[in-house]
Amino acid sequence: MIIEIVADKEEKMISQETIQQITNRIDIIEIVGEFVKLKKRGANYLGNCPFHNEKTPSFTVSPSKEIFKCFGCGKSGNAIGFLMEHEKYSYVEALKFLAARYNIELEETEVSPEIKQQQQVAESLFIINSFAQKHFTHNLFETEEGRSAALTYLKHRGFREDIIRKFELGYNLEERGDLHRTIISNQFNIEYAEKAGLIVQRNQSYYDNYRGRIIFPVHNQTGKIIGFGARLIKSNDRAPKYINTPENEIYSKSKILYGTYFARQAINKNDECLLVEGYTDVVSLHQAGIENVVASGGTSLTIDQLRLIRKLTNNLTIIYDGDNAGVKAALRGLDMALEEGLNVKLVLIPGNEDPDSYVNKVGATAFEDFVGSNKKDFIIFQLEVMLQEAGNETVKRSAVVNHIAETLSKINKAEDFTKQQDYIRQCSGILKIDEAGLTNLVNKFKREKVAKEEKKQPFVDFEKQDWPQDQNLQDDSSFLLLNDVIHERNLLRVLLEYGMLRWDNEITIAEHIFGEIQEFNFDDSEVDRLFTVYKDSYYRGEQPSSKTLLYYEDDKIRNLVIGLNVQQHELSPNWDVKMEGLNINNRDTSRHDVIMSLNYFKLRKIKKMFEENQRDIEKATSFEQQMDLIKVHKVLKEEEQKITGQLGTVIIK
Ligand code: UTP
Ligand code: MN
Repeated sequence: MIIEIVADKEEKMISQETIQQITNRIDIIEIVGEFVKLKKRGANYLGNCPFHNEKTPSFTVSPSKEIFKCFGCGKSGNAIGFLMEHEKYSYVEALKFLAARYNIELEETEVSPEIKQQQQVAESLFIINSFAQKHFTHNLFETEEGRSAALTYLKHRGFREDIIRKFELGYNLEERGDLHRTIISNQFNIEYAEKAGLIVQRNQSYYDNYRGRIIFPVHNQTGKIIGFGARLIKSNDRAPKYINTPENEIYSKSKILYGTYFARQAINKNDECLLVEGYTDVVSLHQAGIENVVASGGTSLTIDQLRLIRKLTNNLTIIYDGDNAGVKAALRGLDMALEEGLNVKLVLIPGNEDPDSYVNKVGATAFEDFVGSNKKDFIIFQLEVMLQEAGNETVKRSAVVNHIAETLSKINKAEDFTKQQDYIRQCSGILKIDEAGLTNLVNKFKREKVAKEEKKQPFVDFEKQDWPQDQNLQDDSSFLLLNDVIHERNLLRVLLEYGMLRWDNEITIAEHIFGEIQEFNFDDSEVDRLFTVYKDSYYRGEQPSSKTLLYYEDDKIRNLVIGLNVQQHELSPNWDVKMEGLNINNRDTSRHDVIMSLNYFKLRKIKKMFEENQRDIEKATSFEQQMDLIKVHKVLKEEEQKITGQLGTVIIK
């Protein structure tokens, strides 16, 4: 919701201490267990994956690593990631959910200068909008022009005064500089007036943007005005019917649903949200006592708008004009709505009416009756429309089958599986095809979708590289052929895992690693950032580990830490078992792991330096230069021999 953005912007950041308190309390088994039935299997827990349809469980949760991973669909993450994915929470929302659950008081912290700056702009925009709204309302009720042109028009259309006041409607006078003058004389910053879209600059002079228009203020969830819709009184070929506020710090069209502020309670009470196209539809239905209604502004629904609805109810009823354009716009939002787990119904208003004119024509009761008895299931409706268009052509009909299977594959929540099966039954009936065949097709689309998503996750790609299955890296020279990033990540994994242990009496493993790799850089920028984050945290005395960094605020870092954790499990399917076995024999594998990771990391870097040096030798322009470079070559060679001596490995060039 814009509304959400605003809330986020107004919201102070959650303090590091609070995050720490929350993450200390997190029990991933308890959190995930609330949504997935888990069974203990060795050190881990196993269940059916909530993110894809499966009969044999491959969804694994590791309490010691505090991560989950599905070996079927590849999804993985920490407890917060699970809540974000499963409940569609933002990072901050997930933290708030956990804070509430563990009775932890949210401590707010100072915000960064950039955010502060944005908040100040947002605050100024709110103030100027509120001022403008009062001026518009004054114009509508208290000026001669407002009363005769605008108020008469609204009353003529059937809007009562109480509803006009409730929605804070107003009017911008015809004259080009009325609002501008008022804004200046009240000492508002003209820049903000422009940003808010109230004033426009043309040929070096300022004009009121909404001259001669009725004003519909747009409110956020808390009732503050974030923008305006301004309607021409008489339709006019030269000007658009509505002018809307331009995108700014507090107004983002794709996140707004007009009327949410007035509709929230009724949506909650009815457990249903009605969606219409226009400002006037919302106002008219309210006037008729139908208050659980919001408007999309006539464009197709965005994912943010759907999520806004989903927070209030799972039941969405779209009420559109019967005309084609509106219906097509509505259909475009369908697949996303399914992914959000919404039950979507569609009602088409007959004739040339829209909800506003129809409710005015037939009255509230008849309108509600009509909506109640004409709800069409969105998927079935879509199928019928497509079938009608396809006629009897086989090719087109099979395209319809594919299309509907793809749509149905988007119902992907575990709790919606019966719903999906119902749809498959209904649709195969309508299409007169075999139910099992359609099920197969739906599953195929599901698999493809998951495969596509997997490709997008960098660390999953990385996992697919051929890791040596044998843990005895010493003998596996093929390990060297793996790319640089693997060695960089491997070193970070070791750092996260053993950094706080002692290397010797003087220093920790972390300090040993810091010293050893001083002269080298990380090529991968994310690994490099994680290293810096770790180092800073280490020297602040915070005892960093994958546990603490698993909840780091930056999601890139978080995901990398999760990836490193998962990677460790996947070195070998039996890794856990083997390690547990080793530990029983009291063998500490940490030193071995550190030495190996460091050596392979360094060898790889040295090999690269060799190559660079070689190129430089070839390009050298003087004898002296060449000699210097050959010295470098020797040093590198020595360094390499030292390491390979330690490794006892033949280097593969
Ligand atoms: P409509 O043309 O259906 O207008 O556009 P309406 O809301 O029913 O208004 P009346 O009843 O004719 O007075 C539906 C919605 O599309 C957006 C507005 O949000 C409008 O409410 N719209 C329409 C625009 O943003 N700009 C336009 O030029 C037209
Ligand atoms: Mn209308």
